[in-house]
Amino acid sequence: MSLDVDALLSELTLEEKASLTSGSSFWYTAPVERLGIPKIMVSDGPHGLRAQPGEGDHVGLGGSLPATCFPTASAIASTWNSDLLRRVGEALAQEARAANLSVILGPGINMKRSPLCGRNFEYFSEDPYLAGELGVGIVEGIQSRGVGTSVKHYAANNQETDRLRVDTQVDERTLREIYLPAFERIVKTCQPWTIMCSYNKVNGLSASENPWLLTTVLREEFGFAGLVVSDWGAVYHRVPAARAGLDLEMPPNLPRSPDQVVAAVRAGELDEQVLDARARAVLELVDKGMGVLDLDEEFDAERNHALARAAAAESVVLLKNDDRILPLASGSRIAVIGEFARTPRFQGAGSSQVNPTKVENALDELRAAFGDVTFAAGYGIGDTSADEALRAEAVDVAAAADTVVMLIGLPGADESEGFDRTHMKLPANQIAALHAVGAANRKVVVALVNGSTVELGEVLPHARGVIEAWLGGQAAGGAIADVLSGKVNPSGRLAESVPHRLEDNSSYLNFPGDSRVVRYGEGLFIGYRGYDATHTDVAFPFGFGLSYTTFATSDLDVAVSGSVAAGDLAARVTVTVSNIGPVAGAEVVQVYVRDVEASVARPVRELKGFAKVALEPGESRQVAVDLDQRAFSFWSELLGKWVVEAGDFSIEVGRHSRDLPLTRTVAVDAPSIAPPLTADSTLHEWMADEQGLALIKEAVAAGQHDPTRDAELVSVIGTMPMSTLAAFEGMSIDHDTLDKLVERRHAH
Ligand code: BGC
Repeated sequence: MSLDVDALLSELTLEEKASLTSGSSFWYTAPVERLGIPKIMVSDGPHGLRAQPGEGDHVGLGGSLPATCFPTASAIASTWNSDLLRRVGEALAQEARAANLSVILGPGINMKRSPLCGRNFEYFSEDPYLAGELGVGIVEGIQSRGVGTSVKHYAANNQETDRLRVDTQVDERTLREIYLPAFERIVKTCQPWTIMCSYNKVNGLSASENPWLLTTVLREEFGFAGLVVSDWGAVYHRVPAARAGLDLEMPPNLPRSPDQVVAAVRAGELDEQVLDARARAVLELVDKGMGVLDLDEEFDAERNHALARAAAAESVVLLKNDDRILPLASGSRIAVIGEFARTPRFQGAGSSQVNPTKVENALDELRAAFGDVTFAAGYGIGDTSADEALRAEAVDVAAAADTVVMLIGLPGADESEGFDRTHMKLPANQIAALHAVGAANRKVVVALVNGSTVELGEVLPHARGVIEAWLGGQAAGGAIADVLSGKVNPSGRLAESVPHRLEDNSSYLNFPGDSRVVRYGEGLFIGYRGYDATHTDVAFPFGFGLSYTTFATSDLDVAVSGSVAAGDLAARVTVTVSNIGPVAGAEVVQVYVRDVEASVARPVRELKGFAKVALEPGESRQVAVDLDQRAFSFWSELLGKWVVEAGDFSIEVGRHSRDLPLTRTVAVDAPSIAPPLTADSTLHEWMADEQGLALIKEAVAAGQHDPTRDAELVSVIGTMPMSTLAAFEGMSIDHDTLDKLVERRHAH
């Protein structure tokens, strides 16, 4: 069954077309029964389905069908494994098909501008390249099974505070280099069926009414061919939104929005062709999505749970392992401490909240792995009234054990959709319990359970081993046991830096803004780009993660091909990776590019490629990572396009953003990116241009003072535009001469 979109468009009445551009209810598009156009269902969310076949809501309050809760985005991003995301995507699609659901509202790929963003657990990274690669994996996985995705939230939606009204003020270069590239990469690589626009304004205009975002950039430049849906309630003015490129308003605002659209067409305020384009996008989506409507399929809950467990284990980042305390020796007496061990927190609240098919807790799973472990709650979550007694009990239990495994983390009330955190600290009662336990037993291993990064200054000195287990989904408990027991060798790498203190983060002075405005004052320098630029020490750098084995990386080679002039500059980076330790494991080879000298501010280094390699003990493998021209480029505000500036670039390869022992410098030739010389160009700019300088010298009549020969004078007046200097007496070049210079320079 499929729809003949062209024929239908010519048969639909104006009212029917308008009705298609709003849904019919919370999760459904509008049907047109007369013409056999069915309605299709869409649902959250990024790491599991929140399918509500009956009444819906967008904040996760109502019930939803049981579904596998996979690791949240923070967690799964730490795998640096797009293939794994592809497999999770396929499983999500299988569950969607079983629910006859056509579009999954995810992934969320917004940048982690601040550690405080309440939805950081739903987002992948502070790095656009990594977020784009991971996004491609999950979108390809889902869509390969005939189910659509909605890549969200487009754009510059990086906080929850006042998220429906806040105006994100951000310069174009920062948008192009930081906030848009993950969308761009996903669109260009795998055409998501839909993109979800965000609630906020971008530079004064709501994302849903922003023609630059929705049409110029998304469709005309990135080549997006799918449908733009609003975030739930993000349409503030239906007609301007339609004009800007917003196809589908969700949930519907009935009958108001369709009525406004019809009236605007009748009044000549909205071109009917624009409405046709919006209705066409909806019809094309329905055409793709109706493939799942009559399916009678089931999903394999056990298989998906096993995948969720493997994914959660691969998400774990080993942060500290002094004296190789991990993996835990079997046969030792283990005490498990922490309420989170029996009352797991494994996902965040809000629209992504899944009703899990089952939930594993770490206590049961550690018992299954190690036999009879002892347990004490140690602290309360939320209710802290019994804390002193709990702490005393935990100290006794810890003192009687060889090794302590302690789970600490953020209570649900601390991070969620809908609000931002105000600090990065772990709850004081948990820290107090850890300190008491650490005083009673010197062999403490901490497992962290949190969706966004936390300050670790009060944790690290009190634990010999630390794993970051994130919000790992319904199988997180088993995954923690698998890593601590050594069944799984941790291979997670941080997809975001962990600063020592919140104040070290570059967005600190501009988050979350006020008076309905947030200024992205730090520009490009978010995450490691900020810490590196200011030489700020961090607790754990971007890309960091230990292993139970040891890797060696050698033999870096960089083969450059193509040219900037032809637009096909590329570099193939090869290294040899060896597992020189005792157990099998996986290394993530990370490739960063540094522009050694640039005419604009550039980050010290930027991740531009990576490869995850699994190696048996003693095994070596050559790994190749390809860089394209974009890897060397920046967005020129002056020229309004991506440019590569000629000069040296360092290719830096290693284990994380601050451990890059292999480097190679390559010289890149490129056409000049200096803007054409005009009367407005400065004396410096004219002098930097070989022909410009020659022309000035020629224009200075014999015997006259040649300003370009007077270094002291040039250092004072060099930044002045030539047109200003032309008005000054004694400068030897007047306005007429300058006009001729400009003409002759252009004629060249
Ligand atoms: C969220 C979206 C979600 C939508 C539908 C909104 O509040 O921002 O991420 O997909 O609700 O539940």
